[in-house]
Amino acid sequence: MSNSSSPAKRRVLSGMRPTGKLHLGNYMGALHNWVRLQNDPQYECYFFIADIHALTTDYADPSQIAGNTREVALDYLAAGLDPAKSVLFIQSHVQQHYELPLLLGMITPIGWLERVPSYKEMQENLASKDLTTYGFLGYPVLMASDILLYQADFVPVGQDQTAHVELTREVARRFNQFYKRPDSTEILPEPQVLLTPSPKLPGTDGRKMSKSYGNTILMSDPEPEIRAKLKPMVTDPARIRRTDPGNPDKCPVGDLHKIFSTQETLQKVYDGCTTAGIGCIECKSWAADAIVSALAPVQERRVKFEQNPALVTDIFNDGARRATARAEQTMHEVRSAMGLNPTLSGTSA
Ligand code: TRP
Ligand code: SF4
Repeated sequence: MSNSSSPAKRRVLSGMRPTGKLHLGNYMGALHNWVRLQNDPQYECYFFIADIHALTTDYADPSQIAGNTREVALDYLAAGLDPAKSVLFIQSHVQQHYELPLLLGMITPIGWLERVPSYKEMQENLASKDLTTYGFLGYPVLMASDILLYQADFVPVGQDQTAHVELTREVARRFNQFYKRPDSTEILPEPQVLLTPSPKLPGTDGRKMSKSYGNTILMSDPEPEIRAKLKPMVTDPARIRRTDPGNPDKCPVGDLHKIFSTQETLQKVYDGCTTAGIGCIECKSWAADAIVSALAPVQERRVKFEQNPALVTDIFNDGARRATARAEQTMHEVRSAMGLNPTLSGTSA
């Protein structure tokens, strides 16, 4: 219950597909920001793993989904998502995630789905998979349902997901035009994007860090692995010889320093690089130091949870229970607004 001394919290919801062990791009581009949001008392946060979504592209071979979901669960907890502050759950554990997409599908014009920018693009990028399915076309309805089920106010996502949230708003608007509560207020609020400020995080080949490029540093990579991955990393192409000066602003290693290093180290990098006073090998070892120390608390938490799988299960079961209760509240209103679940005790026309 809200009153003037404790205003209703604004609901935040976000999720990730279970892609397996998460990398630094996932951490800096999403998880780190989610932890910040959960620690802000003005928000009530829901974070989930979108395992049903994985089937939209991987239906022919679902053998990786359960294992990947488990790795993502560990990385959520490792990042510092805290069940005492956020509701953490797995999408397929909350049955309403199967129900709302069916009902919202009734009102969603096919044209809206075909026009989603990533639709054609993904079909082309993943040409080895047959994505001419109803489920793949309906992906945005699945995502809209994820958000609207919790009547979320804010959805923290990166730029690549904003079109999906925009579509979610359109679906909510259309729903609200057709259906209202008995007191004629709206059932589904239009969620807003909370754009995640995401610094440019290069992978080891200098391109954006991404699992599909195979250029990632994992949140769970041990120190020697991190150092080994940084060693062959591309640098400012102008620095061919040790004696050539370089520019950290044109170097992916420089970008890593900007994200992870202290001001003091960053200054040493600029001074040393532009005067050829340091070599790239030394510079990379400093970047590795900074990443290793940023990940130390994350990896410490991960080990703790890896050693206690029953605790992880409990956390996500409890999250599913809390998410289900909240989702059911919405579904109750949605079913009734759409003429479903009649009591059969009303007066006939
Ligand atoms: N589509 C998102 C992605 O690929 C994952 C996702 C599914 C999501 N449902 C969501 C994100 C709801 C935010 C809100 O990363
Ligand atoms: Fe990049 Fe560092 Fe080498 Fe400069 S010294 S080019 S910033 S790796």
